Amino acid sequence: MSTINSALVDRIVAQFRQRFGSAPEFIARAPGRVNLLGEHVDYNDGFVMPAAIDRATYVAFSRSTEEVSHIEAFDLHETVEFSNDSISYKKQIDGSPLPEWGLYPAGVAKILIDDGFEPEPINVIFASDVPRGSGLSSSASVEVAFLTAWQQLGGWSLQKIRRARLCQKAEIEYVGVNCGIMDQFASVCGEENKILCLDCQSLDWKTLNFPDGVAIVIADTTVRRKLTSGGYNTRHDECEAALRFLQQKIPGVTSFRDVSIADLDCYSSLMLEEIAKRARHVISEIDRTINAQTILERGDIRAFGHLINETHASLRDFFEVSCPELDTMVEIAQSLEGCFGARLTGAGFGGCIVGLFDESEVDYAIEKLSVSYSKKTGLSSDVFVTCSSRGAVIL
Ligand code: GLA
Repeated sequence: MSTINSALVDRIVAQFRQRFGSAPEFIARAPGRVNLLGEHVDYNDGFVMPAAIDRATYVAFSRSTEEVSHIEAFDLHETVEFSNDSISYKKQIDGSPLPEWGLYPAGVAKILIDDGFEPEPINVIFASDVPRGSGLSSSASVEVAFLTAWQQLGGWSLQKIRRARLCQKAEIEYVGVNCGIMDQFASVCGEENKILCLDCQSLDWKTLNFPDGVAIVIADTTVRRKLTSGGYNTRHDECEAALRFLQQKIPGVTSFRDVSIADLDCYSSLMLEEIAKRARHVISEIDRTINAQTILERGDIRAFGHLINETHASLRDFFEVSCPELDTMVEIAQSLEGCFGARLTGAGFGGCIVGLFDESEVDYAIEKLSVSYSKKTGLSSDVFVTCSSRGAVIL
């Protein structure tokens, strides 16, 4: 299956010609991701198991002949114009503030400059088929696609993890979301038919084979959240508070990895209830991802699916990042024939669920998910099959 959306590429290339008078020199592609296991643990020294998906951001670009970058978001019909100076103030060259979407490319340029690089001004038309704000890392795919573009023009050879780190830094320092490294990592490092497995403490990573005969189904509840204003940064702070408390009680604890559920049980009555709940999710999720690696190495999809179901319950009850629509979609998925496991994916507070299904049951599952969800909630949904795909490239 080709993972390139040729129709979308054709449209941005045509728009590029029309706007800038010639074909783009290059096209960068950077995928979104689906996380299968290890949620809200990348910023807690845990392990994550995402896969890059077949949906991506495409950046058609050439060097600009001026000191100014002209960047058009094709889907939004909006353009930003910035220089390496104006982005220090999060402004365009005419002094107006950058719109929110413009913070992603500008943030990447700014972080590159801070790191000693000289990103060249560029002319860009970009578009994405990753649904925005849905938990599939649309933002990270934009950051990584732009970094890939500037890397190409600069001729720099940056290690993969370094690229992911730079984009993560742009999101934390420029956009203001205190995120972990998982999304940018998956967008850079994705591989076809593989599940990635990243140790977020050492940043060592490996790939595991995606089990045969299993399909990844994504169901978008179409309920949206915004990470910048949502509970994401709050969860981050709550986790820090939980760790600080446990460190005061248990000698030698440097991260959540050093704490067991039994340890937590000894002290949870002394903690604020919600702080103890956050810790319970993180500690149990780290355990699940450690078990999952052995389970997947022996190809036991049923046991892996069981862990996925447990993760949903933990995100719902202890980390409290689910919502009624996500719970409804997950319940429908888990009740279907051929479903190995299903849960919300990404940060939560709305967005998508991921389910692993027996390939032979997929058509039926897609139909059932959208019909039952609409019956139960009155909302429409977007349900589709995806596959694990390769990370960012110049096409
Ligand atoms: C968002 C963040 C990631 C990660 C997930 C939750 O996608 O960008 O770093 O924390 O939420 O697992």
